[in-house]
Amino acid sequence: MFDPQARPARDAAVAHNARAWDRLAESKAALAQPAADAAFTDPRRWLGAGGWLAGEGQGRSWLPSRLDGLEVLCLAAGGGKHGPLYAAAGARVTVFDSSPAMLALDRQVAAERRIDYGMVQGSMDDLSMLAAGRFDLVIHPVSTCYLPEIGRVFQEVARVTRAGGLYVSQHKSPASLQSSLEPGPRGSYELRHPVAGPQAGRALPPEPPSRLREHGTQEFVHSLSAILGGICMAGFVIEDVCEPDHTEPQAAVGSFPHRASFLPPYLRILAKKQAAAASLALA
Ligand SMILES: C[S@@+](CC[C@H](N)C(=O)[O-])C[C@H]1O[C@@H](n2cnc3c(N)ncnc32)[C@H](O)[C@@H]1O
Repeated sequence: MFDPQARPARDAAVAHNARAWDRLAESKAALAQPAADAAFTDPRRWLGAGGWLAGEGQGRSWLPSRLDGLEVLCLAAGGGKHGPLYAAAGARVTVFDSSPAMLALDRQVAAERRIDYGMVQGSMDDLSMLAAGRFDLVIHPVSTCYLPEIGRVFQEVARVTRAGGLYVSQHKSPASLQSSLEPGPRGSYELRHPVAGPQAGRALPPEPPSRLREHGTQEFVHSLSAILGGICMAGFVIEDVCEPDHTEPQAAVGSFPHRASFLPPYLRILAKKQAAAASLALA
């Protein structure tokens, strides 16, 4: 059940961000670029080594030993990048996204490359059209920042993931979203937006387009308790966490890699759905 008091803000954010992502897809923004030809020559390698399932923090891959035949949900992952690569690696794929134009890119790539996979339009906090326990693997690129409340997202992901299945998600780090995009005169960054207390929970003020904030979208900061705690509360065990390294030697002050050396922009999480075994209850 959605909280009736929170529903108007949630519905407004879903509608606003679906329109914003439609515009980003139509303007061929960086995050709306389908996978390049080269990735299809060895999709498993692209997904694993250095790609989305590289658990960079601990230097180990998060890629399952096999993808062929696995049911994979690419959640909030329209754009023709993730879906066709998992499908080309042999998985049975469903791409789920709220933006019709991002899903249209998947439809286009699927037709051009003659790859068959499913596409569903909706909001990631309501997966009621997907059967319980259906997926072996859920991959979830950055997108929790587009909803004001995210506990339900994790509950829905847990519902559609089979026991023992994996959930890999990436989120904008709270501290990065809270902080100024440009450095001050001393080359450091300023903490600007609250993550807790009465001022928290509002959409962030708009910023000029950059790699850190998608133009025209409404974004919300979520605390580590909401992200990590929400995943655990939904019935997953967190197996690994990393902050992908976006630093570069000699990065110019104010550049994306310079800021990343102060504020890693993303948090990537590997979680496993717990089996419903009897365990010691907490008070
Ligand atoms: C950062 S993009 C991820 C996909 C992208 N192609 C990539 O390269 O990783 C974020 C995606 O989240 C989707 N999105 C935003 N809010 C959503 C919601 N409430 N439910 C489902 N998808 C949502 C957007 O339409 C967009 O396709």
